[in-house]
Amino acid sequence: MKPNLSVSIAGVDFANPIMTASGCCGYGEELAVIFPLSKLGALVTKSITLKPRLGHPSPRTAETSSGMLNAIGLANVGIDKFVTDKIPFLEKQKTKIIVNVAGSKLAEYIEVCARLNDFERVDMIELNISCPNVDEGGMEFGADPKMTEKSISEVKKVFSRPVIAKLSPNVTSIVEIAKAAEQGGADAFSVINSLVGTAIDIETWQTKITNNKGGLTGPAIKPVALQMVNAVYSKCSLPIIGIGGIQSAADVIEFLLCGATAVQVGTALFIQPDLPVTIEKELKAYMKRKKLNSIDELIGKVRKY
Ligand code: SIN
Repeated sequence: MKPNLSVSIAGVDFANPIMTASGCCGYGEELAVIFPLSKLGALVTKSITLKPRLGHPSPRTAETSSGMLNAIGLANVGIDKFVTDKIPFLEKQKTKIIVNVAGSKLAEYIEVCARLNDFERVDMIELNISCPNVDEGGMEFGADPKMTEKSISEVKKVFSRPVIAKLSPNVTSIVEIAKAAEQGGADAFSVINSLVGTAIDIETWQTKITNNKGGLTGPAIKPVALQMVNAVYSKCSLPIIGIGGIQSAADVIEFLLCGATAVQVGTALFIQPDLPVTIEKELKAYMKRKKLNSIDELIGKVRKY
């Protein structure tokens, strides 16, 4: 019996549970040179905003112990260029397309999502209410339950397909924010965005990135992400896409056991861009070895003391 890797989230069917994380492969063009994007469950784009953004000046990334700090500042082409230059490429890809949307004001999120509604191949929106690297919007929305609920409910009025709330770990209670997103009509959660941190060069005494602080990603944050996925899974009923330091099929399995239905691979793509292909093979082999027919048999099945 061949294990079935397909999963379904809010009525959208994915060939497998492996997605790319926003910001780690732009709009997919470079990744498609390395492997056919049909190998992915979904491609998640860099955050799209109403106007183009250059982001913060370099250096805007720094390597840390088992992780990476970034403060890109939501650099992206903006919705106009995304529609004219990027969507035609994305529409041809035989994978699901999830567009990550960010903004500094609610009206911006709404306008971008309304524009995306016209493109049927945009299967889902992932609402970035958790970017730690901008002064306005981002985490400011996702740290406040009322703003979280409102942003989701307003976006749901203009975008007719499922909306994923990408949650920040930089809050007192991620479950409280998840519940607010659920109340606002979210269809799924992405758990988690990056953890705020910094790094300093001891020779120059200078912070290593121009924004002085940034989001920590990579294997260093995996235990935090797993715990948060499980906390949200235990208290909420929406499907979860787990994110945080995934480097192997073993990491994916941990996220599934904690309650994720799918996962996103991010920072590790900078080391091994075709990692999703390897993970898919390893996941299949694990399922065969464990005599599992479907991913559902793993979701939320963690055994606790
Ligand atoms: C950035 O563009 O600074 C990162 C985006 C994010 O973490 O949401």
